[in-house]
Amino acid sequence: MKILNVYSSKTGNTRKIAEAIFDILPEPKEMFSVEDAPSPDLYDFIAVGFWVNRGMADEKAKEYMKRIKGKKVGIFATLGAYPNSAHARDVLNWAGEILKGNDVLGEFICQGRIDPDILDKMPKDGVHTMTPERRVMIEEAKKHPNETDCLYAQGAFREMLKGLD
Ligand SMILES: Cc1cc2nc3c(=O)[nH]c(=O)nc-3n(C[C@H](O)[C@H](O)[C@H](O)COP(=O)(O)O)c2cc1C
Repeated sequence: MKILNVYSSKTGNTRKIAEAIFDILPEPKEMFSVEDAPSPDLYDFIAVGFWVNRGMADEKAKEYMKRIKGKKVGIFATLGAYPNSAHARDVLNWAGEILKGNDVLGEFICQGRIDPDILDKMPKDGVHTMTPERRVMIEEAKKHPNETDCLYAQGAFREMLKGLD
């Protein structure tokens, strides 16, 4: 049972979760940033992680996920919105669709600090209108991923490992 942990991370949030997950995965295991990742065909279980960009996995992760076929897979992700939001649910459902044909054993998602440069450049209307609720959400995101998120990510993947032969 060879395990691959592959992640895409622009500012380090998803990498932090990837590293926490990697710590509890059994050998033989390898971890790569998506830019350097080998073919998923070489592995039996793949932990794949992405950051959320405009309601989807970031482009690099998306392209990699499309290459995963007939594997046992665990999904992890970070986003600015709350992990229990409809937005987060939509993202995970969408990831499940991209990974159709694989056996998705579980998923984990948590908040991650939003790059302040991007916040400045984001449109200020529609869903991005700065309401008090949105401000609170952005402030909360600044505190993540924290140690508790890492522990929950490890717990989620420990559960998934029970589904491996
Ligand atoms: C260009 C851009 C688009 C984003 N789009 C979304 C989004 O649609 N929904 C969301 O909840 N967070 C969004 N975010 C927030 C990131 O998903 C979040 O900060 C994530 O933790 C970044 O992960 P990283 O540090 O691994 O790159 C966006 C961030 C950037 C930079």
